[in-house]
Amino acid sequence: MKAIELFAGIGGFRVACDSLGIETVWANDISPTAAKVYQKRFGEEHFHFGDISNFLDQVPDHDLLTGGFPCQPFSSAGRKLGLEDARGSLFEKIVHILERKKPKYFVLENVKRLLSMDSGKHFATILDALSEIGYLVEWRLLNSVNFGLPQHRERVVIIGHRDHTPKSYLCTSSDISELTPHQASVASNTENWKSIEDHGSKFHTWGLALNGKFFHAKIEGFSDAARPVKLKDVLEERPNDNFYFTENTLERIKTSEEVNRFYNGVEILYNQKGGARMGYSVFGIEGVAPTLTCTTSRHYERYKIGNEFRRLTPVEYARIQGFPDNHCASVKLYDQYPLYGNAVPPALVTWAIKRATSTSYTTFQSASAQMELV
Ligand SMILES: C[S@@+](CC[C@H](N)C(=O)[O-])C[C@H]1O[C@@H](n2cnc3c(N)ncnc32)[C@H](O)[C@@H]1O
Repeated sequence: MKAIELFAGIGGFRVACDSLGIETVWANDISPTAAKVYQKRFGEEHFHFGDISNFLDQVPDHDLLTGGFPCQPFSSAGRKLGLEDARGSLFEKIVHILERKKPKYFVLENVKRLLSMDSGKHFATILDALSEIGYLVEWRLLNSVNFGLPQHRERVVIIGHRDHTPKSYLCTSSDISELTPHQASVASNTENWKSIEDHGSKFHTWGLALNGKFFHAKIEGFSDAARPVKLKDVLEERPNDNFYFTENTLERIKTSEEVNRFYNGVEILYNQKGGARMGYSVFGIEGVAPTLTCTTSRHYERYKIGNEFRRLTPVEYARIQGFPDNHCASVKLYDQYPLYGNAVPPALVTWAIKRATSTSYTTFQSASAQMELV
């Protein structure tokens, strides 16, 4: 199987594809630091540096399109339909390639906010575009903690298949059993699905779309979860002194409030008085890390490790995201944090790719049949 990786960054999808024996034949990104890491790590042959808009005609044939596309607002030209206009956006480049190359599958990844942004219009536009070009589209909200990683990181994966009967690749029958018999019955027949134009203000954690129609539901369990890992399990033994700021953190704590509770699995010890900004928190290591991001303010976060306080190292960022320790070592220390923060955890998309390209799936018949028995 051949894959391409759009908006490749440091190659989260590439690591996943390599681990599954899928060959990446083409990759692209506009960031010089990401390009340096990608080329150092995977070679220069298949990586193309620059704006995707300049490469659309060069994309080769492939079976699987992957990409964590930037979350960029759409234009409002199509608002009268309740949708927005994807024309001119980076997302539109994905649709352009899918239409032209017609790969069997796609696996896309984005932030949780995509489901509710602009009262659901953004995601509706995405579903509309992908489902109108001949794919059965399925999405699911996933969390890194379920993939053996010590990080609360919620991400939506959106997969596509050239298939026209309702089924789920991303839910096991145990996950699907959360649907009521009525929901399962609606899910099993696209005639009963709603038009995407009639979407509500936010999309649920799981759903399907086909030919401009969709069905969605809140599915909370995740039956395929790996063993949980805590932050303390991935820390470096004794990093360089530059990562420590024990004395001034002790001063700061005098003006902070003691919190001492877990929020989304993250142990929060102190917060700066009067400010709920996570960037000013002191975290413990008994839980998982908060979502790593690409913003530099993150480096002001402090973690209490033993009796000392320090920030995390790039090696720890790599481990928290599930990359090899020295994945980004070819670029400067401070350039590594945002690259890891922007990346997709390979373990999360390995799972999604494996399921998306599998021949097994879950149908809704057994759950909806229960309704007939009632
Ligand atoms: C959310 S990140 C994806 C990270 C990637 N999945 C990874 O594992 O590292 C989005 C990427 O899109 C890239 N990007 C933004 N605009 C672009 C454009 N016009 N053409 C190509 N790449 C672009 C950014 O440089 C960034 O690396």
